[in-house]
Amino acid sequence: DGDVYKYYADGEWKKSSSNKSVAIINPTTRKTEYKVQACSQEEVNKVMDSAKSAQKLWAKTPLWKRAELLHKVAAILKENKAPIAECLVKEIAKPAKDAVTEVVRSGDLISYCAEEGVRILGEGKFLVSDSFPGNERTKYCLTSKIPLGVILAIPPFNYPVNLAVSKIAPALIAGNSIVLKPPTQGAVSALHMVHCFHLAGFPKGLINCVTGKGSEIGDFLTLHPGVNCISFTGGDTGIAISKKAGMIPLQMELGGKDACIVLEDADLDLVAANIIKGGFSYSGQRCTAVKVILVMESVADALVEKVKAKVAKLSVGPPENDSDITPVVSESSANFIEGLVLDAKQKGATFCQEYKREGNLIWPLLLDNVRPDMRIAWEEPFGPVLPVIRINSVEEGIHHCNASNFGLQGCVFTKDINKAMLISDAMETGTVQINSAPARGPDHFPFQGIRDSGIGSQGITNSINMMTKVKTTVINLP
Ligand code: G3H
Repeated sequence: DGDVYKYYADGEWKKSSSNKSVAIINPTTRKTEYKVQACSQEEVNKVMDSAKSAQKLWAKTPLWKRAELLHKVAAILKENKAPIAECLVKEIAKPAKDAVTEVVRSGDLISYCAEEGVRILGEGKFLVSDSFPGNERTKYCLTSKIPLGVILAIPPFNYPVNLAVSKIAPALIAGNSIVLKPPTQGAVSALHMVHCFHLAGFPKGLINCVTGKGSEIGDFLTLHPGVNCISFTGGDTGIAISKKAGMIPLQMELGGKDACIVLEDADLDLVAANIIKGGFSYSGQRCTAVKVILVMESVADALVEKVKAKVAKLSVGPPENDSDITPVVSESSANFIEGLVLDAKQKGATFCQEYKREGNLIWPLLLDNVRPDMRIAWEEPFGPVLPVIRINSVEEGIHHCNASNFGLQGCVFTKDINKAMLISDAMETGTVQINSAPARGPDHFPFQGIRDSGIGSQGITNSINMMTKVKTTVINLP
């Protein structure tokens, strides 16, 4: 069937022998936009074998050559930003401009990774034995960083290109090979991105992309004995994977309920602007989105007014028009968001706008006077709905933040840097932003969550290190 996108294995585009496909529904039209192959477990086995043998050769390829190829693919990716962005618009309803930004950011990430890789992998350590009690100076220890092997990369729907390359590029520069399992929504964008690697001329089998149903190949992939490391970004599935995975390094970036703590002395215009950007960009479908506002009662009315005025200016519509608010990724997601909204309504939250939904398109909504008994106080909608909890002390805000299952990022707005630092120390999250909305980038910054928000730390440098293992050689003198 010529209409079904092929999967990529051993340097070739292939049709699955299962003769089955998976439909990708356009979130805006709610009609099938694309189809991808439903790969079988047998095909996954073959991919694992070729990834393993390709990795052995790649590890012996000089570091500068690996970097050169990565710079090449970065350029090809950027040259092809338009067709890839078009897929992002159709598959995940990302606003047109943001879709282009995602691809360009991905190219930059790959180049940075190549540069960082040649630096940090180009040096090792030299240790001598006589610093430890009882030893003479008779042992010299040389350390270097060696690849882990085959990395299984599983990115989420919200950045199918960028959060794929944030795993692929560190893996490759460090001498690993890749098996990529893209999200269903976003799979075609990911296949286009993989085609750029194909065009750049990476060796056969080094990078592979299998598509299919999670129910058929999900566990099969994550439990596969050929996998030496899993880098996953997404939701609860990551917790399930972590519980079942074998003795391999895991990098997990899961959900967040990023709090925005607003003190009495905060610049409320700055806060309102950051709430709009942080809470509503890509319709709130970011793990780092502002997901709860914890504002001091004395400035709450003023802040809510400012945010309301800005919400009224957000454009709502299809991603092709570059609307600010676009349809959420699926009907089930829209239904879930609606469930949170109805629960808040029933429990007495103040609706700053009328709740409105057409298909998967949900109008931006600010819910004031949210209380801890409402689901939206704790759960992440992954949609354009933002709760405001009024607090009477900073401690109350910190307590709410730390009582969450999540601990990805948080932010605090105040002009008092001393208070900001104390609050940052008290917030149990991977990152605290002072006077700005949470965000993962710039992409070389460490990025990590605690509790249910993840395992390990990302960012270019940390990912390269995480995808390597220290190897030592000890020279014993007579
Ligand atoms: O959805 C999770 C992403 O890692 C967030 O990235 O802060 O650049 O939107 P972002």
